[in-house]
Amino acid sequence: MTDYDYSLMNEYSMHTATCGQLRASNDGENVVLTGWAWHNRDHGGLIFVDLRDRTGYTQIVVDPDCVSADDFATAEHLGREFVLRVEGTVRMRAADAVNPDMATGEIEVLASALQVLNTSVTPPFSIEDGIETDETTRMKWRYLDLRRPEMYENLHLRHRVAQALRRALDERGFVEVETPILANSTPEGARDYIVPSRPSPGTFYALPQSPQQFKQMLMAGGIERYFQIARCFRDEDLRADRQPEFTQVDIEMSFVTEDDVMTMMEDVLHETFAAVGVDLPVPLARMPYAEAMDRYGCDRPDVRFGMELVDITDIVKDTGFKVFASVAQSGGIVKAINAKGAGDWSRGEVEKLASIAEVNGAKGMAWVAFTTGGEEKSPIKKFFTDEEWAALKQAMDVEPGDLLLFAADKPAVANAVLSALRLHMADALDVPREGHALVWVVDFPMFKYDEDEKKYAAEHHPFSQVRREDLDRVESDPLSVGSYAYDVVMDGYELGGGSIRIHDADEQRRILRVLGLTDEEIDDKFGHMLNALALGTPPHGGIALGLDRLIMLLAGKDSIRDVIAFPKTSSASDPMTGAPSAVSARQLKEVDLKLNL
Ligand code: AMO
Ligand code: AMP
Repeated sequence: MTDYDYSLMNEYSMHTATCGQLRASNDGENVVLTGWAWHNRDHGGLIFVDLRDRTGYTQIVVDPDCVSADDFATAEHLGREFVLRVEGTVRMRAADAVNPDMATGEIEVLASALQVLNTSVTPPFSIEDGIETDETTRMKWRYLDLRRPEMYENLHLRHRVAQALRRALDERGFVEVETPILANSTPEGARDYIVPSRPSPGTFYALPQSPQQFKQMLMAGGIERYFQIARCFRDEDLRADRQPEFTQVDIEMSFVTEDDVMTMMEDVLHETFAAVGVDLPVPLARMPYAEAMDRYGCDRPDVRFGMELVDITDIVKDTGFKVFASVAQSGGIVKAINAKGAGDWSRGEVEKLASIAEVNGAKGMAWVAFTTGGEEKSPIKKFFTDEEWAALKQAMDVEPGDLLLFAADKPAVANAVLSALRLHMADALDVPREGHALVWVVDFPMFKYDEDEKKYAAEHHPFSQVRREDLDRVESDPLSVGSYAYDVVMDGYELGGGSIRIHDADEQRRILRVLGLTDEEIDDKFGHMLNALALGTPPHGGIALGLDRLIMLLAGKDSIRDVIAFPKTSSASDPMTGAPSAVSARQLKEVDLKLNL
């Protein structure tokens, strides 16, 4: 982390120094500090107070010989989190009292006056790093949680990253433009949050899932280079890396190719990381989507470790193990991972892994353990010929101490199962995953088939451009069609995604038709876009980064809630304000709505 000049906060303030600022060089200075009484200790006659603000803390010494009797009495009755103003003199600590772990640990401030600016009732949890208080409690008293140094660090990191991004984009000619929050539905694959309109009863705004359509309209408007640190809203199942409202660094450019957007993003990320002390070598590696699925079973591979998926369909297609043979012969695939170091796990421990396979759709999870003692344990070995067994061991690069885990299924299921097992085993075996690894995943398919809805859906969104060589198969064989879409993946998370967009109205209509929209629906929902495309929209493309995820990963956290000042719980509520909450009958009447609970 780069140092930050906290003395900037002394102008326009009651204090002359912040609590994290004073050093040996300030010895002898008269100062005024303000902050919270963090740890208070009465050492028989002398009272010590660690005075804390967001910049750090300073030890205050209250000596009855140096303050008035009233002030000393005040010091004797300080509670945790009382808000204080302290006047005093900086002095060096005795050699045996120096605290090398503390930024201000060489000095202390001998108080000459002490004033309580506010008292505090006993806080519901300690204002300390590393507390184990449950998260709902922390969220209910979020302002107390934010007083904890690690939470401030997260917010400050977020601020510095946002500043660096703005600087890097500004220097490249990007203009920050705000787009509406009260908008129309824009399809990004989640449910919309909707807001009733009072002047037009029965009609609703949708909060934007992203500014996608607006940024394309800005390109139609000739802005050429746009960005926005934009709030997005998606009503979807929440996870550690998903919030109902989150922030994108949203970017769009005109007159560009895929390479231009990706190179711009690499340069901007490189500068942004550097601003917070992280070296990001660029250009980043690019991996086609098909290769990511093949080697890692997912489109957001954590490439910081191996344990890659190996396709053994050919080896097992005629095996006596009917599960494998029948899957292999009916268009499915058989794949495996080698979890090195788990070969001595007990049968019970291994079989527990099957539940991970099952939640990902598998019907079972075959395995082979090669113990360090040279034994081969497996429920399926007996079905293999010696040649098949030897070929399997060779393909999987087997040594004593290895555990092979198998999935035989449709490609999507087999990949999902082994991708989840790979990550689980990496955790279980403490496989080192240090530092950061960013990689582009490119050449995404344009469409996927939605089994539930029984129709095609856009893999990214319907505004991405189809690869020119695939354009004539859009209607006849949609699943074979590629797009100019790319994701940037960081440490196994989808950090961002984008594409080159369609800028031809007819082509846009063709794509929307494949998605099952009638011409009437297309005109109704996307007429404004088709009009713009027909009115000289330039070729354009862009990307959006998940800012919350970026900060989470840079801060080394495993939930984006830790890097959002006021996040929501997994049921999308805010325990502090009580949102969402009921509205009055009158408010409902104003928008002509009746509840039917
Ligand atoms: P996409 O839907 O991939 O693309 O979103 C871009 C990035 O936003 C982040 N993200 C989220 N972060 C937290 N909580 C969520 N619920 C959430 N959903 C998405 C991810 C993701 O990579 N308009 C396109 C971008 C474009 O084509 O330019 C879009 O929104 O990090
Ligand atoms: P069975 O003959 O059904 O008892 O299965 C033998 C082994 O194969 C068990 O360990 C099962 O978990 C495993 N198995 C069953 N179906 C599959 C599958 N589709 N993919 C991988 N392993 C499977």
